[in-house]
Amino acid sequence: MEENVKKRIFPGEKITKLPFGGDYNPEQWPEEIWEEDMRLFRLAGIDCVTLNVFSWAALQPSEDTYEFGKLDKIMDMAKKNGLHVILATSTAAHPAWMAKKYPEVLRVNFAGIKRKFGDRHNSCPNSPVYRRHSKALAGKLAKRYGHYDNIIAWHINNEYGGECYCDNCERAFREWLKKKYGTLKELNRAWNTSFWGHTFYDWEEIAAPNLQSEHFEENRTTFQGISLDYRRFFSDSLLENFQAECEAVKAATPHIPVTTNLMGFYKPLDYQKWGRYMDFISWDNYPGADTPLWGTAMSHDLMRGLKGGQPFALMEQTPSVCNWLPYNALKRPGVMRLLSWQAVAHGADTVLFFQMRRSIGACEKYHGAVIDHAGHENTRVFREVQDLGREIKELGDVTLGSRVPAKAAMVIDWDNWWALEYSAGPSTDLKYLDEVERYYRAFYELNIPIDLISVKDSLDGYGLVVLPLLYMVKSGYEQILKRYVEKGGRLVATFFSGIVEEHDLVVTGGYPGRLREIFGIWVEESDALPPGEKNGFVWNGKHYPAELLCDIMHLEGAKPEAGYESDFYAGTPVIACHDFGAGRAWYVGTRSNDEFYRDFIRNAAKDAGVQEIWACVEGVEVMKRCSGREQYLFFLNHGRETAEFCAEESGESLLDKRTYEAGGRICLDGKGVMIYKVKGKEKD
Ligand code: GLA
Ligand code: ZN
Repeated sequence: MEENVKKRIFPGEKITKLPFGGDYNPEQWPEEIWEEDMRLFRLAGIDCVTLNVFSWAALQPSEDTYEFGKLDKIMDMAKKNGLHVILATSTAAHPAWMAKKYPEVLRVNFAGIKRKFGDRHNSCPNSPVYRRHSKALAGKLAKRYGHYDNIIAWHINNEYGGECYCDNCERAFREWLKKKYGTLKELNRAWNTSFWGHTFYDWEEIAAPNLQSEHFEENRTTFQGISLDYRRFFSDSLLENFQAECEAVKAATPHIPVTTNLMGFYKPLDYQKWGRYMDFISWDNYPGADTPLWGTAMSHDLMRGLKGGQPFALMEQTPSVCNWLPYNALKRPGVMRLLSWQAVAHGADTVLFFQMRRSIGACEKYHGAVIDHAGHENTRVFREVQDLGREIKELGDVTLGSRVPAKAAMVIDWDNWWALEYSAGPSTDLKYLDEVERYYRAFYELNIPIDLISVKDSLDGYGLVVLPLLYMVKSGYEQILKRYVEKGGRLVATFFSGIVEEHDLVVTGGYPGRLREIFGIWVEESDALPPGEKNGFVWNGKHYPAELLCDIMHLEGAKPEAGYESDFYAGTPVIACHDFGAGRAWYVGTRSNDEFYRDFIRNAAKDAGVQEIWACVEGVEVMKRCSGREQYLFFLNHGRETAEFCAEESGESLLDKRTYEAGGRICLDGKGVMIYKVKGKEKD
């Protein structure tokens, strides 16, 4: 990744600090309150609002009438008060009249039930009526408001997602398939339809795969090929909606960047593909009560990876509490600040909230907001927002556009995710993210920054690359991996890898198929262990468990690093290491525990020459952003107690202006944050 090139997400000179604020819905409030909002925004240092997210029904009360009067007033107020605006297109919930007049805009769910008007994210993406009207609205908004120089981005729609199996979608699916396969012969081959006599002789015979056709459960399908293609198709359908609106706004405002708010590891949409069509990535960070800190870090890293490591926008987070979890615990004092800086540490160039003022009705009335139902500034949450606003202002623009300089990467692939979890066997507990998380956590705990990249991204510059559960190896990817290792790269793959190609057809001749040469092994069988059952192994003198799946392998050039301790395959290799070209490739044939992953990655990173940022201490997260010669370290103390650690380099703590010499002691309060500018080395 180009770690030294500054890339700001908002063009021009007007952004001189992290934009701070978030979703603001004045149209849901009487106008008397607006001036008070402006006063409170000033008080909290809020300088950026996302407007117009759910206003379609207000903007277009009927098919032929548009009413922009209220939005005109809101836009003028924002401008007058010096607020940057992220302007949304309002198309994530269609008006009730549209559903009544054109029932085709309503979705059909997985069970085949046609929805009535209600909820949001409710439009069929393949409905021509929806497409026409959403594009028209986006275009009108751009023409009307494009001259406002305080609009810093377009926020297209909102959290695209969900699914639809209506007749429009089914028809569009067939067209998508025609484009992809050209002939039914090729489609029949790719889907292996000779199985269970599924051969198609007419495109019209193809049904959308849901509970009425190929599925017997959400993730259980009789034809993985069909279900996999439907996922691809549906992600593309929503992407087409996004692109259509982008086109409409770009026609009037080519200078304003476009984005839409993503949702981290959201399975239904191939965000790596989406990222290519977005000017910058933005996402909504809502960790649940049980989301570990490395879990939020991992989502940020995924989002950063969607656009070659460029900074992204934190579009939403709650300042205090959610409403949609079963138990909506408050963010403890200091935690909102900590999570905000965690986002920045991982590459965010904004700190934005959902939302500014807590609504009084409907399902989000108990969702946290900057301004609570009490309506004034004398609340804990407001004060914390205000303090953060002050801090963000003081920091200024130093981190804007800077990059995270990772030398390790993990390959994430949505097709692989879908295909792996549709696969019937070998174990129902095989979950892609489980393995991704285990490896990620090891890097996180070792303070080694890591990029989450796609199979389309270059591996140049990385010293260590991990392929967790890369069950699907797409044609040609093995060549990229091969060249990477030959040139000296270190590569790690796990059990159940390389089994299929891009159609989910098994690569015959021995597992791990196309990866066999690189890893120098042949996996003959895989033994699925029921929950609670374990095998084990000794690696580097330490004992670790083997769980979930045990690949039984033969060595074809690789050396064994550990063998299974029990069962009929006792003594056969579980970890194999292959020196290949100038590099090295490890195959880890089973699932183990966190301690193993940490030990194993520490060892592989050392071998690869990939370093931690600072050793620091447990409980303190460390990240780094760089631009040119400047380096900013972020220390985030997630613990409650003060943490003490050694300054490995001299520098200055930017939030409290203290300087440290290398070798000095740093004390960081519980839940504390330190942004540390490393003292530049003198030029020779
Ligand atoms: C999402 C949406 C917002 C709001 C929040 C509540 O992120 O984009 O409109 O509903 O959730 O958490
Ligand atoms: Zn549909």
